[in-house]
Amino acid sequence: MPNPKKRTQWSSRLAFILAATGSAVGLGNIWKFPYMTGQNGGSAFVLVYLVCIALIGVPIMMAEVFLGRHARQNPIQAMIALAERENRSSCWQLVGWSGTLSGFIIFSFYSVISGWVIHYVYLAVNNYFSGLTPENAQSLFTEMISNPAEMILTHSLFIFITMVVVARGVQKGLEKAVSILMPGLIILLLILLGYSLNSGSFLEAFRFLFYPDFTKLTEQSVLSAMGQAFFTLSLASGAIMVYGSYLPSDASIPRTCMVVAIADTAIALLSGLVVFPIVFAQGLTPASGPGLVFQTLPVAFGAMPGGTLFASLFFILFIFAALTSSISMVEACVAWLEERWRMSRLKASLWVGLAGWTLGLGTVFSFNLGKTVTFYGKTFFESLDFLTANLLLPLGGMALAIFACWLMAPHPVRNELGMEHRVHFDLWRWVAGVIAPAAILMVFLNSIGIF
Ligand code: PHE
Repeated sequence: MPNPKKRTQWSSRLAFILAATGSAVGLGNIWKFPYMTGQNGGSAFVLVYLVCIALIGVPIMMAEVFLGRHARQNPIQAMIALAERENRSSCWQLVGWSGTLSGFIIFSFYSVISGWVIHYVYLAVNNYFSGLTPENAQSLFTEMISNPAEMILTHSLFIFITMVVVARGVQKGLEKAVSILMPGLIILLLILLGYSLNSGSFLEAFRFLFYPDFTKLTEQSVLSAMGQAFFTLSLASGAIMVYGSYLPSDASIPRTCMVVAIADTAIALLSGLVVFPIVFAQGLTPASGPGLVFQTLPVAFGAMPGGTLFASLFFILFIFAALTSSISMVEACVAWLEERWRMSRLKASLWVGLAGWTLGLGTVFSFNLGKTVTFYGKTFFESLDFLTANLLLPLGGMALAIFACWLMAPHPVRNELGMEHRVHFDLWRWVAGVIAPAAILMVFLNSIGIF
């Protein structure tokens, strides 16, 4: 058994908030949120997403941080230990496995998309964006994704950087990096917002994002909105639970989770407000898919004074945002290899990196050579994304919440959550343990046409 006392811990609650925010804020906010919103018709999707963050995401996040901190082990062993302690079936460990596996699968495609961001740093620094027309922006993107060799190069580079950071341990450098880089990213998004406000299409974009039009909502888009809420908060994928296991015992879990969710949501909405005015002003289609931010932001940078500098800074900070997420995705896996199999951190990082790199090749090819290879109409990348965000994460989250709310003795749970008022605790238990699971179930049944 690992000795919990010997494990590293975040130096403070703030350090955890920074690390968890670093995990939450990433491609999910700046790349995935805008393109999913565009594909799913805008406002109604955004509304469902926001409801899912508040009603499902935050309460489940609290359950996850709590379980991690209570067990002080990696998610797989945490679930084994907790199930044993509470006299529950050992099948509950499946939740730990599913989370760890999901984090790993997400890592494999996340690093490919992060590779695109690396490519865009190169383009920005070399002044490719100045005076860029929307058509040229589209062809820059198409050129990139049709070149597998190049994508493999940037994918490899991103994996390498991630694994170097992971191999060096959980705390070093990370806290400081997030506290400097995150505000930097927000400032650049605000500069971009200034451009979008003046683009002439801000109102149209605002309407598109916030004036609910429920006719655009389908069963699948509700499922995607829920999946996106899980993805963007890094839930049920090992990350938040393993980070929770490094959280000092005196930190308040509810407040911490709230801060992370608010920061994450604000950045996603900001990114939407930046992207869509450009989409409408340039006559692009909102539903153009994963290329959306890569085809819009460069046009904005290209048209503003100092665009080359701002673009370079933006994409560099974007890489860091992706990096602080990717290291959290593999942390559960690496911690498991370390704690369960007594592997050195370096060796564990090497293996996880290599495996993630290999699986990532599937995603690389799904944009070019293997574009036509589909599973139920989805490319390899789309299948992995669907499998994790829309299936494994919500199911895993539901199971975690039910376990924490109803299968553990309530007193320690309430103490650990630091809820002095019984009403707060009961409220949390009902929302996380009943409303959230019921909502998840309903969305599932609905999406397969049963409900
Ligand atoms: N939340 C991250 C993002 O929005 C992605 C992520 C998913 C990170 C799962 C960790 C685990 O970019």
